[in-house]
Amino acid sequence: MKFEKIAAPKGVSEYAPPDSAAFEWVRQSLIDPAKLAGYQLIELPVFEDTTLFSRGVGESTDVVSKEMYTFEDRGGRSITLRPEGTAGVMRSVIENSLDRGQLPVKVWYSGAFFRAERPQAGRYRQFYQVGVEAIGLDDPAIDAEVIAIADRGFKKIGLKNYRLEITSLGDAKSRAAHRVDLLKFISTLTLDEATAARAAINPLRLFDDKRDEMKQAMEKAPLLMDYLSPESESHFKQVLAYLAALKVEYVLNPRMVRGLDYYTGTTFEFVHSDLGAQSGIGGGGRYDGLMETLGGQNLSGIGFGLGVDRALLAAKAEGLIAKSAFSSDLFLIPLGDNAKGAALSISAQLCELGIVTEIAFGDRALKGAMKAADKSGSRYVIVLGEAELASGQVEIKRMSDGATSSVKISDLSGFAFDK
Ligand code: HAM
Repeated sequence: MKFEKIAAPKGVSEYAPPDSAAFEWVRQSLIDPAKLAGYQLIELPVFEDTTLFSRGVGESTDVVSKEMYTFEDRGGRSITLRPEGTAGVMRSVIENSLDRGQLPVKVWYSGAFFRAERPQAGRYRQFYQVGVEAIGLDDPAIDAEVIAIADRGFKKIGLKNYRLEITSLGDAKSRAAHRVDLLKFISTLTLDEATAARAAINPLRLFDDKRDEMKQAMEKAPLLMDYLSPESESHFKQVLAYLAALKVEYVLNPRMVRGLDYYTGTTFEFVHSDLGAQSGIGGGGRYDGLMETLGGQNLSGIGFGLGVDRALLAAKAEGLIAKSAFSSDLFLIPLGDNAKGAALSISAQLCELGIVTEIAFGDRALKGAMKAADKSGSRYVIVLGEAELASGQVEIKRMSDGATSSVKISDLSGFAFDK
């Protein structure tokens, strides 16, 4: 009987060797600056109680209303695969009482997220983010630090063709004042039922409408930036001043609307110019009411999520990814069962010293094993037969020029593998 092959589900991103090396490099580069700034790992479940997202992220968002992977578990509970990271971090901070200790709580995370979007280049149903959250202090210096960390991540990869867009969504007072005028303005427009319903929950969403007629209609709409309370305005000005001092370039975008409803105050997006429609390589902002909405104290927070898949696409577009070829330091070719045992223990010792050591498994004839060594791109090769085991001496061959030298097996750990 012949079984049929099984394909991956539609729209998921995955990274197999050799391309996975570039993915891992991008992910590490993006998160290293957060670790260096004292952020600590938080590792969270990939599924949560559905209410966490419907209440935390907001019912008016596409993410909650159209894109969640929600199912009933075997106990009849409604479970959702996490579409984003902030709500889960907040849930955990409250549940573990981290907000009762030293503030701000500064954490980083990295992992898979799930949104049932229409798949296209750079938009996946399972994708990868790294992110940070700094919770508990409403200090503009933290906003600047968080934004600068994200910027350093992109710079570490070597990206150049991106810009940081920034705005302020103000505090509750600013938004209430703006909402009155915005609703007044919206009431002069003719809207279809779905749009009117979205506007009723969050009128700011209409700034995000991609249809030309709506874009045009919203051109004269009042902008939140013009309604900032004195406190919000001075907070935002201070953030911009810190960014300027840090030499982090930005452009103001007072029409920015993020896809999640919890944002307040400083809000930002990193946009790459070589990626077509899916140009957002990262984004974030303040979410000053989120903790309270989720049953915790009334503490503020700010963070970002960076799209690892899109950052990798951006790096490829800018020619920053060399064809990745895995190469090991040493390829051991054992001939016979005794030699195989010896190869396993030599490899175990060398691996512990950080020397990347592979073994030719599978009882291949010498010729085939040498071919495999060649293909693996290994820098050195040793053939281990009965004679070598008896003498305790091996010939180590440098693959670049074929030069050989004789080394005692017991001295291999001291051999300079051109590290
Ligand atoms: P977000 O803007 O929804 O924010 O997602 C952050 C980044 O994840 C986006 O800029 C994009 O690069 C990537 N991304 C989102 N959806 C997809 C997708 N379907 N396929 C590929 N990449 C995608 C958040 O998720 C917030 N939790 C960020 C945050 C943290 N705000 C405050 N703290």
